[in-house]
Amino acid sequence: MTTAVVERPGGLRVRCEGVVHLYRTFEGHDVVALQGVDLTIAAGERVAFLGPSGSGKSTLLTLLGGIQKPSAGRIFLGDEEVSRMGERYLARVRARRVSTMLQGSTRNLLAYATARQNIAFARLALSADERRAALPEAELLGRVGLEQQADQVVSTMSGGQRQRLALACAVSTGPQLLLADEPTSQLSHEDRDHVIALIHSLGDDLGTTVVVVTHQPEVAATFPRTVTMKGGRVGSEGRDGAEYVVIGAEGVVHLPTHLAEQWPPGTLVRIEPEDASRLVVSRSEQEGPA
Ligand SMILES: Nc1ncnc2c1ncn2[C@@H]1O[C@H](COP(=O)(O)OP(=O)(O)OP(=O)(O)O)[C@@H](O)[C@H]1O
Ligand SMILES: [Mg+2]
Repeated sequence: MTTAVVERPGGLRVRCEGVVHLYRTFEGHDVVALQGVDLTIAAGERVAFLGPSGSGKSTLLTLLGGIQKPSAGRIFLGDEEVSRMGERYLARVRARRVSTMLQGSTRNLLAYATARQNIAFARLALSADERRAALPEAELLGRVGLEQQADQVVSTMSGGQRQRLALACAVSTGPQLLLADEPTSQLSHEDRDHVIALIHSLGDDLGTTVVVVTHQPEVAATFPRTVTMKGGRVGSEGRDGAEYVVIGAEGVVHLPTHLAEQWPPGTLVRIEPEDASRLVVSRSEQEGPA
């Protein structure tokens, strides 16, 4: 006897090479949101994106999710380059393999449908076998504490309830890559912990690659790797609690924030190798350009 086994392909590897993104405003000038992002996220890795408002976190997330295409540079999902995917193929990827939960509670859901209908809608593109293998709707709603809201219409839900439902929809397809932009920003501590547990359970059960944008240190602390954006670039990375500054394109290095105040822009410095793994940065006696 053969049983239909739905293959669970595990997580998707993500790679960015020199990714630049510009937005053209109504006034016709360009805003540089990303200026050269180089980043690799291994299959099954779980990463929290941090960084100040406006540093490009949401922009990078929407590019990884194939919702926007980069102005320049390349993004790979597995071995495939997003810019080379046709619209129809990309739509299939978004419906089945890559789930993106956008920032804000209103953009991810059908406002006039119920919780149950939203989950069914999110799963429309799955095959019958995939649907059978996916978490049952009741369990999914239970995990985000919305059992009582199964038949409630989204437009009558609170912000926190919508946020939890949006996440339930995003995980409902069992994606290979989950991208969630501030999924816990409106939640109580208890709901936040449930949502984070749900996100990690996806990684544990399916090997899903997970990227979460957050401003909350408690959320970031549950991730083994953090990537801190700064001015449209990857400024620093944390791995297992240790912080590293990242050398960017053309050798650009961001000073850690607490040092940047003492070493203002324009300061002249000498950089000399001490040995193969140490550089010495020393301030010049001369004044830098004002
Ligand atoms: N649709 C848009 N049109 C014009 N500029 C935009 C647009 N979206 C974002 N930007 C600009 O791009 C830059 C990066 O924005 P982004 O939303 O990626 O930042 P963020 O790190 O997610 O910030 P936050 O923490 O506030 O969500 C900002 O300067 C922002 O003003
Ligand atoms: Mg954002």
